[in-house]
Amino acid sequence: MRTRDSDIPIHGEEAFAGMRKAGQLAAQALDMLVPHVQPGTRTDFLDSLVYQFAMDNEAIPATLNYRGFPKSCCTSINHVVCHGIPGAKQLRKGDIVNIDVTLIVEGWHGDSSRMYPVGEISRKADRLIDVTFESLQHGVAAVKPGHTTGHIGAAIQQYAEGERCSVVRDFCGHGLGQVFHDKPNILHYGRAGEGPVLRPGMLFTIEPMINLGRSKVKTLADGWTAVTNDRELSAQFEHTVGVTEDGCEVFTYSPAGLDRPRYQPA
Ligand code: MF3
Ligand code: CO
Ligand code: CO
Repeated sequence: MRTRDSDIPIHGEEAFAGMRKAGQLAAQALDMLVPHVQPGTRTDFLDSLVYQFAMDNEAIPATLNYRGFPKSCCTSINHVVCHGIPGAKQLRKGDIVNIDVTLIVEGWHGDSSRMYPVGEISRKADRLIDVTFESLQHGVAAVKPGHTTGHIGAAIQQYAEGERCSVVRDFCGHGLGQVFHDKPNILHYGRAGEGPVLRPGMLFTIEPMINLGRSKVKTLADGWTAVTNDRELSAQFEHTVGVTEDGCEVFTYSPAGLDRPRYQPA
């Protein structure tokens, strides 16, 4: 059903049940990857694990052939902001990598991403991961009926900039459900009161990309890979949420408690 005023879909209990299942499976896929994110691992091996996990669980990787994207997940290393394409590149000790998985389960889309440290990482990389993780938590905490999408963006921007980081403006969170990218757009910056009013039954992602340097990004010649213009580190976390009567439900929490993967012992 679509609200007449803003054209943003309002979903019912059945959708929430479907989103819970899809969100939990996407989160489980991210959990499954944790022990494989090691120096020497190729990103296309991680991709093959996601593909196999989807097949084993009767799910469809939503990014595969989506607008020509060739893989089952995105792997974005260091200065790559988002939409990195898995390939022959091997992870190296000290890298930070975002893995973004969207699984379609019984028609519903669960979309989530996390940062993974590869072995021991620098203090500045670890700090960026912390700031980005906390930015997402601030965004989630701002979701409730009567607030606007701008409340979410403002909460993220105020926190991240207060930590002397910058917010990427070229990509945003998005409505989703039985389609991958729907209304509303969720900007990760802005002001409380801007944008559409949040109502129970809205489903969307919050997925801030936070940079250590400036916010400017550019897209590489492959048409997908977005990198920081200044080649400084970038990080991202993403949850899929549904607006409830008194706040929101996060569908993509880690069933294993690995929402913020830490160092893996060598
Ligand atoms: N999962 C990404 C998101 O958060 C979408 C990636 S689209 C792709 O919206 F084509 F790049 F895979
Ligand atoms: Co998304
Ligand atoms: Co995603």
